[in-house]
Amino acid sequence: MSKGKVLVTGGTGYIGSHTTVELIEQGYEVVIIDNLSNSQAFIVDRIEQITGTRPKFYHFDLLNEAKLDEFFAANTDLKGIIHFAASKAVGESVQIPLHYYRNNLVSMINLLEGMKKYNIENFVFSSSCTVYGQPDELPVTENAPVKPAESPYGYTKQVNENILKDTIKSGAKIKGIALRYFNPVGAHHSGLIGELPIGVPANLMPFITQTAYGIREQLSVFGDDYDTPDGSCIRDFIHVVDLAKAHIIAIERMIDGKNAEAYEMFNIGTGNGFSVLELINSFEKTTGEKLNWKMAPRRAGDIVKIWADTTIGNNVLGWKAEKTLDEMTGSAWKWEQNYRSSAEAK
Ligand code: WQD
Repeated sequence: MSKGKVLVTGGTGYIGSHTTVELIEQGYEVVIIDNLSNSQAFIVDRIEQITGTRPKFYHFDLLNEAKLDEFFAANTDLKGIIHFAASKAVGESVQIPLHYYRNNLVSMINLLEGMKKYNIENFVFSSSCTVYGQPDELPVTENAPVKPAESPYGYTKQVNENILKDTIKSGAKIKGIALRYFNPVGAHHSGLIGELPIGVPANLMPFITQTAYGIREQLSVFGDDYDTPDGSCIRDFIHVVDLAKAHIIAIERMIDGKNAEAYEMFNIGTGNGFSVLELINSFEKTTGEKLNWKMAPRRAGDIVKIWADTTIGNNVLGWKAEKTLDEMTGSAWKWEQNYRSSAEAK
C-alpha cells in the first residue's frame, strides 16, 4: 500500500535521484518532472534498478505553464512536492544571470500557482547555506543573518525562500519547509547513481574523482593562504544519502501535520567542517589513489569557512547525518568508476 504520491522536480539530477530512491524505499509513489538540462534520462532506469520500482517520468520544463497545468490536472492526488529543479552553478550564474532569474524564480512561481489551483499542500524547497555568505559566527545557525548574495545563483535561493514564505503568509493553504544544504558529496552505495556534472565540474568532489579517473589532468586547490589550520577552505561536506533522507522526514512532517509553523527552515549539514586538503586526504586514504593536484590562486567568490549548527535539524526536524567523510569519498569514487565503465558513458 503506497503512502501516497510525491512529485520530485529535478528527479533525474544528483540530489533528486537520491531522494527519489529514498522516497520509493519508504513506500511513496514518485512522479518526476525534469527537463534534462543538467541530467540524463538513464537515471530513471538506475532508480528502477535500485528500488525495483520505476517512477513515472514527465520530460518537460517547469517554465512551460500549459504542460505543468496538464500535469497537475492529471495528478491532483499529490501528497506534496519536493522541488530541486533549478540551475545551480555559482560561476555560470554570474555569466548568465537572466537565465538564472527566469529559470529558478519563474519555475518556483509556476509550481506554487499550481499548488494553489489544485489544492496541493506540502512543499519542500531545496535551499542552500550559500544564503549565509561568510557567517560572522561558526557553527552557523538558522537565525544567522542572510547576507547579500555573492552570486545570482545564491540570490535566487534567497528570493525563493521569500517567495515561499510570502505565499504562505498570504493565506494560501500551503505548508513549506526550506532545507539549507551545505556541501552534498558522495553517492548511493550501489554506485548506480551519483553526481554527473555536464562539462568541466565546478564542484570539488566530481573534479577530484574525474582527476583520479584520468578525465581531468590535475586538480587545482584554490588557495592555501586562508585563515584555517591548513590554509585551505573549510566546508561542511554532507553525504547525499543523508541529505536525501532529510527530505523524506521534511515532507512527512507536513503530511502528518507535525510542522510547528506553516513555514519552517532547517540547516542540513553534519556540523563538522573539513578542509579541501582533508577531503583530498580522505579520498586518497579510502581509495588508495594518489591524486594529482597543485596549489592555485584563490577562486573569486569563495567564502573561507562554514559549517552548520545542527541543533534545530537534529532536535526539531528529528534528522541527523550519519555518514562519515570516508564514506563520502569512497562512494563518490565507486560511482565514478562504475559510471565511466558503463555503456551510458560511451
Ligand atoms: C568547495 C571548496 C573551492 C573546486 C557551491 C555552492 C553551494 C552548492 C555547492 C549547489 C571551495 C574548492 C573547488 C576545485 C577547489 N551548490 N575547490 N578546486 O563553492 O562551497 O558551494 O557548491 O547546491 O550552494 O555555493 O562548493 O565544491 O565548488 O567548492 O579547490 O576544482 O573546494 O575553492 O573552497 P562551494 P565547491
